[in-house]
Amino acid sequence: MAHERVYVAAVGDVPPGQMRCVVVDGLPIALAHVDGVLYAFGDACRHEGGPLSAGVLIDHTVTCPWHGWTYNIRTGKSIVPPVGLRVPSYPVIVEGDRVYIEIEWE
Ligand code: FES
Repeated sequence: MAHERVYVAAVGDVPPGQMRCVVVDGLPIALAHVDGVLYAFGDACRHEGGPLSAGVLIDHTVTCPWHGWTYNIRTGKSIVPPVGLRVPSYPVIVEGDRVYIEIEWE
Protein backbone atom coordinates (compact mmCIF):
# COMPACT_ATOMS: atom_id res chain seq x y z
CA MET A 1 0.00 0.00 0.00
CA ALA A 2 1.20 3.49 -0.78
CA HIS A 3 0.55 6.68 1.16
CA GLU A 4 -0.07 9.85 -0.73
CA ARG A 5 -0.45 13.38 0.57
CA VAL A 6 -2.96 15.25 -1.55
CA TYR A 7 -3.77 18.96 -1.58
CA VAL A 8 -7.54 19.29 -1.33
CA ALA A 9 -8.48 22.86 -0.40
CA ALA A 10 -7.52 26.17 1.11
CA VAL A 11 -8.47 26.56 4.77
CA GLY A 12 -10.88 29.35 3.87
CA ASP A 13 -12.76 27.05 1.50
CA VAL A 14 -14.40 25.28 4.45
CA PRO A 15 -15.89 27.87 6.82
CA PRO A 16 -16.44 26.94 10.49
CA GLY A 17 -19.41 24.65 11.00
CA GLN A 18 -19.63 23.76 7.33
CA MET A 19 -18.73 20.93 4.98
CA ARG A 20 -17.49 20.70 1.45
CA CYS A 21 -17.00 17.81 -0.98
CA VAL A 22 -13.73 17.38 -2.83
CA VAL A 23 -12.96 14.65 -5.36
CA VAL A 24 -9.59 12.92 -5.34
CA ASP A 25 -9.00 10.53 -8.23
CA GLY A 26 -12.73 10.01 -8.56
CA LEU A 27 -13.16 9.43 -4.81
CA PRO A 28 -15.64 11.83 -3.14
CA ILE A 29 -14.30 13.04 0.20
CA ALA A 30 -16.09 15.30 2.67
CA LEU A 31 -14.23 18.01 4.55
CA ALA A 32 -15.80 19.34 7.75
CA HIS A 33 -14.69 22.25 9.93
CA VAL A 34 -15.60 21.88 13.61
CA ASP A 35 -14.19 23.90 16.50
CA GLY A 36 -11.21 25.05 14.48
CA VAL A 37 -10.30 21.54 13.30
CA LEU A 38 -10.71 20.11 9.82
CA TYR A 39 -11.82 16.50 9.35
CA ALA A 40 -11.91 14.39 6.19
CA PHE A 41 -14.05 11.31 5.60
CA GLY A 42 -15.66 9.41 2.78
CA ASP A 43 -18.55 11.41 1.35
CA ALA A 44 -20.58 8.39 0.22
CA CYS A 45 -23.02 7.10 2.84
CA ARG A 46 -22.80 3.36 3.49
CA HIS A 47 -26.56 2.99 3.00
CA GLU A 48 -27.18 4.04 -0.59
CA GLY A 49 -24.33 6.43 -1.27
CA GLY A 50 -25.96 9.67 -0.19
CA PRO A 51 -23.67 12.73 -0.15
CA LEU A 52 -22.78 13.23 3.52
CA SER A 53 -21.30 16.68 2.83
CA ALA A 54 -24.82 17.80 1.86
CA GLY A 55 -26.19 16.54 5.17
CA VAL A 56 -26.45 18.12 8.60
CA LEU A 57 -23.34 18.70 10.70
CA ILE A 58 -23.84 19.03 14.45
CA ASP A 59 -20.73 19.00 16.60
CA HIS A 60 -18.82 15.89 15.50
CA THR A 61 -21.72 14.08 13.87
CA VAL A 62 -22.99 14.22 10.33
CA THR A 63 -26.43 13.04 9.29
CA CYS A 64 -26.99 11.81 5.76
CA PRO A 65 -29.48 13.95 3.84
CA TRP A 66 -31.17 10.95 2.23
CA HIS A 67 -32.40 8.69 5.06
CA GLY A 68 -30.74 9.94 8.22
CA TRP A 69 -27.87 7.56 8.92
CA THR A 70 -25.46 9.35 11.25
CA TYR A 71 -21.69 9.11 11.55
CA ASN A 72 -18.97 10.32 13.87
CA ILE A 73 -16.78 12.47 11.64
CA ARG A 74 -13.65 11.75 13.73
CA THR A 75 -13.83 7.98 13.25
CA GLY A 76 -16.19 7.53 10.31
CA LYS A 77 -18.26 5.07 12.37
CA SER A 78 -22.03 5.02 12.17
CA ILE A 79 -23.64 5.88 15.48
CA VAL A 80 -27.21 4.85 14.72
CA PRO A 81 -28.20 1.32 13.71
CA PRO A 82 -26.54 -0.37 11.97
CA VAL A 83 -23.83 0.71 14.39
CA GLY A 84 -20.26 -0.15 13.45
CA LEU A 85 -20.37 0.42 9.72
CA ARG A 86 -17.97 3.12 8.76
CA VAL A 87 -16.97 5.45 6.02
CA PRO A 88 -13.22 5.95 5.62
CA SER A 89 -11.61 8.72 7.60
CA TYR A 90 -8.43 10.43 6.47
CA PRO A 91 -5.68 12.26 8.37
CA VAL A 92 -5.73 16.00 7.67
CA ILE A 93 -2.61 18.15 7.57
CA VAL A 94 -2.82 21.94 7.50
CA GLU A 95 0.22 23.90 6.40
CA GLY A 96 -0.39 27.61 6.36
CA ASP A 97 -3.52 28.07 4.28
CA ARG A 98 -3.21 24.72 2.54
CA VAL A 99 -5.18 21.62 3.50
CA TYR A 100 -3.87 18.16 2.65
CA ILE A 101 -5.20 14.72 3.37
CA GLU A 102 -3.33 11.46 3.51
CA ILE A 103 -4.73 8.66 1.44
CA GLU A 104 -3.61 5.07 1.55
CA TRP A 105 -4.02 3.47 -1.86
CA GLU A 106 -4.28 -0.29 -2.03
S1 FES B 1 -28.12 6.98 1.64
FE1 FES B 1 -27.52 7.76 3.56
S2 FES B 1 -29.07 7.16 4.90
FE2 FES B 1 -29.66 6.33 2.98
